[in-house]
Amino acid sequence: MKILVLADEPVQRLWGEYGLDTLRQADLVLSCGDLPSSYLSYMTCFCPGPVVYVHGNHDDHYDKKPPEGCINAEGHVVMVNGIRILGLGGSMRYRPGCPTMFSEAEMSARIRKLRRELKGTGGFDLLLAHSPIAGVGDQPDLPHRGFECFKPLLSEYRPRVMFHGHVHQAYAAVNFVREREYEGIPVINACGSYLYDWPDEWKVSSLPGRLALRRMMKRSQPGEEYEHF
Ligand SMILES: [Fe+2]
Repeated sequence: MKILVLADEPVQRLWGEYGLDTLRQADLVLSCGDLPSSYLSYMTCFCPGPVVYVHGNHDDHYDKKPPEGCINAEGHVVMVNGIRILGLGGSMRYRPGCPTMFSEAEMSARIRKLRRELKGTGGFDLLLAHSPIAGVGDQPDLPHRGFECFKPLLSEYRPRVMFHGHVHQAYAAVNFVREREYEGIPVINACGSYLYDWPDEWKVSSLPGRLALRRMMKRSQPGEEYEHF
């Protein structure tokens, strides 16, 4: 399964007829945030697969103008194409009152709130985030610092992969590293776009219960807003 992962800035080559070949092979599109609603809505017109998103720190406008036809995974597990996707968008808080920013304690509290849901879903296969993990591709300044609390989350649930954005390619210039890992789990900075090949043999390792599955599938519909900041 081909997953087209997007983050941080629209990619010129994906707009217009030259991008259509790439878009048409996307079985699933994931947005790690900081992208215009219209860009994600555009993806729903040309990609055969669903579009799933979380918020970047600059996406507080999604409340007023959400990406049409897309699935909001923010703060929950959604199941798309047989993959359980946990969405934890937003960045480290560097401005008070901004609904798409979280202190370390606030992000930890979001994860604690998920415990019951994660028990029902049997975990998750993919972490869709905006910010990186602390010390794994983040930057020393507060706005681009990663979250420590992602570490125990990954250690416990061991998803197949984590995608994030927020640390732009331009910040690192020639030293940009797209693929890292945390305890053997691939951690990919999808800044711009990244085409990921999800092996077909990767099945859901732990099946959710019937009630949890029903709730998860209900959340996995386009146009739903599950977490209002
Ligand atoms: Fe960002």
